[in-house]
Formats: sequence, structure tokens, C-alpha cells
Amino acid sequence: MQGRRDFMKTAMYSSLVLGFSSILTACSGLKRRDVPVCAKEKDLSSGLDAKTRNILYYASLAPSGHNCQPWRVRIEDRQTWVVEADLNRQLAVVDPQNRELLLSLGAFVQNLCLAAGRMGLAAEPQVIAKSRHDRDVLRIKLHKARVSNYPLQRMKKRRTVKNGYLAKEIAAADIKVLTEHLPENIFYFPRGSKHASCIAEAAVENYRLQTYRDEAQKELVKWLRLSDRQAAKHRDGLSTEGMEIQGLKGWFVRHFVKSKDFLKKSYRKQGIDLMSNLANQGGGWLIVTSQGQTVSDLINTGRSFESMALLARECGIGIHPMTQMLEEKEGLRHIAEEHNDGFHPQFVLRVGYLEKYPEPVSLRRPVEWFAYQPLNS
Ligand SMILES: Cc1cc2nc3c(=O)[nH]c(=O)nc-3n(C[C@H](O)[C@H](O)[C@H](O)COP(=O)(O)O)c2cc1C
Repeated sequence: MQGRRDFMKTAMYSSLVLGFSSILTACSGLKRRDVPVCAKEKDLSSGLDAKTRNILYYASLAPSGHNCQPWRVRIEDRQTWVVEADLNRQLAVVDPQNRELLLSLGAFVQNLCLAAGRMGLAAEPQVIAKSRHDRDVLRIKLHKARVSNYPLQRMKKRRTVKNGYLAKEIAAADIKVLTEHLPENIFYFPRGSKHASCIAEAAVENYRLQTYRDEAQKELVKWLRLSDRQAAKHRDGLSTEGMEIQGLKGWFVRHFVKSKDFLKKSYRKQGIDLMSNLANQGGGWLIVTSQGQTVSDLINTGRSFESMALLARECGIGIHPMTQMLEEKEGLRHIAEEHNDGFHPQFVLRVGYLEKYPEPVSLRRPVEWFAYQPLNS
């Protein structure tokens, strides 16, 4: 009798657990681990050799504004690749001067060099763009070298994190780790400091200004991938998981909300409320500046930023770029008033310790969608 009762109890418990976990699974949107690295089997016959594919796969894990992945790679021959700006992926409204596009290409190139090194190739990038609007941005020369011991996992594990930051200052030892790649071009303002409060206020205010700038909001809407079907089709842009809209709310948005609903007043207001909440979470702010404003300056800053971002997870620190103050006229005017001419902020980053570091979720296009061999090669 006792055995039968135990059996019934276990059966009921298991079905409850199973039922609950399937509800939770149904509530989560498409994540990076849910999509295959290659788009389709036929893509494997695209002519790219395995090493090239692999290096470019790691490069593509780099961050980019709106996850627009503004890169293309022209494989001229085994030793010569050209990294192009994908001019169809520019954010013409919020980034008319391609500042963020070039920072994102810098991050892409940093991953590319690190991955190539791990695979026994030295990658030597040379900036070839004369202006910020050129298509051909860098030529990469590759040659055989000693295999580096860089842990590739860092690229797979890096992600942007927006929520769940602890109200705790970043320890000096961690700041040292994060800033070792750009010690002269990075400034930390701990939570509670006057500067940190000013940055938080400006971040929210410029987010608000941008939210009510219709063209900027319409551009953002183009990069929303709310349903799983859209996310799987494009494998770029902002999915519910990427925006950290999770649980039942995420499920609702994926099934019932249309991208253009984000233009409604109530949605804009919700976004602003969320940002003001986030801006006050965390351990403070990091401002990354560049030496100058040339294409090379932006590529180098993107590379250094990525080197830092790749180390953040091991310190248990989340990084959240909040870029609107570098995109809105009002934010730029305010910065120019308060600083001298040589001050070129390129990243405004909210940082904070996380109790549990989430896995990466934002999607990436398969290599074959952005790498190509010219017909005459
Ligand atoms: C130049 C640049 C600007 C960015 N600006 C913002 C921003 O203002 N707000 C935000 O939430 N994320 C911002 N991001 C982060 C991207 O949205 C993120 O990298 C992208 O969605 C891919 O996600 P992942 O970093 O988790 O791989 C920015 C990233 C870059 C490289």
C-alpha cells in the first residue's frame, strides 16, 4: 500500500515538474543555441574551407549596434581577405557618420585576429578606407604562425547584459583587468559618484529624446525580430531574448505584438520607464574614448572595446552600452560644452556584477551569408 502511495506521489510530482518545465520552455524565445551554425547543408559546399569558416564564425560573434552585423568579407585568396562595410546594414538615422558601424567592424576584426591566432594564422589587418563611408574598410593578410593559446570560449560566452546588476562598486582589481587593453582611454565612474549620477541622468534623457524621434524609432523597428519565425529567418537584429523580454511577457510579445506597435505611445513610455530603472542599477559607468575620429581610430577603439568585453564575464561583470547620448544632438552638445576638443567618447557603458551570468542569446547570420569569393578569384 505504502509503495503504491509513493509511486502515485512520484508520478504526480514528475508530471507537475514536466508540465511546468514545458510551460517555461514554451515561454522562452529563439536563442543562439537553438539555431544551427550553418544555415543549410548546401552552404557547406560554398567553397569556403573549414578554417576560414571557423575563423569568420568567431568573428561574427562580435557585438554590433542593434545587432545589425554590418560586415561582409571578400575572400580574395587564402591569404588576403577584405572586410567590407555592408552598406545595406547602416543605421542611417542614429549613426549617419558610421561611427558605430566602424566600432562594430573593429570588434569583428578583433575576434577575427584572435580566432586566426588560435588556428595557427597571424592576421594582419590594415585599414584601407579613406573615408567613413567607403565600402572596403580593411585588408587582412594571413600567414602561418605559432598556434596561440587564446581561449576561444570567451568569444562564444561574451554577451551584452542589461538586467540584474548588483548595486556594488566594481573592485579596483577588476577595473585593472578590464582596462588593461586601453588604460589611457577608459574612465570608470563608480556608482554614487557625482559623475555617475550625471551620466545616468544623461543616458535616460537622451534615450527619452530618441524614443520620441520618429525616424530613429522607425529605424529601430526595422531591426526588431519579435516572432521566432522572423528571428530564424534573419538571424540578426533584436529578438525578445536579446532585449531580455522574457517569461510570459516575452511569449506574449512573440505571439501578439507587431514591430510597429513599438511606435505606439504606451510602448515608448514603457521603454523609457525600463531605461530609467536600468540606468540606476549596477556598479557605475565606463566611458571609452578614442585618440581621434579617423577610421583607424574607430577601428582601434572597437578592437580595444572587444578585448575588454571578452574579459568581463570572467570577472562576473555585465556590460551594457547605452549609446543614445552619443547619437542625439542634445547629448553631443552637452558633451562638447563640458569637455575640451580632444575628448572623443565612443562607448558609454553601464557595468555591474551579476549573480548569475546569462548565456548568450542574440542570433548571428551564418558565415555563408556574409562571406563571399569574387567570381574572378
Ligand atoms: C557600437 C555599439 C553600440 C551599441 N549600443 C547599444 C545601446 O545603445 N543599447 C543596447 O542595449 N545595446 C547596445 N549595443 C549592444 C548590441 O545591441 C549587442 O551587441 C547586440 O544586440 C548583440 O548582442 P550581444 O552583444 O549579446 O552579442 C551596442 C553595441 C555596439 C557594438
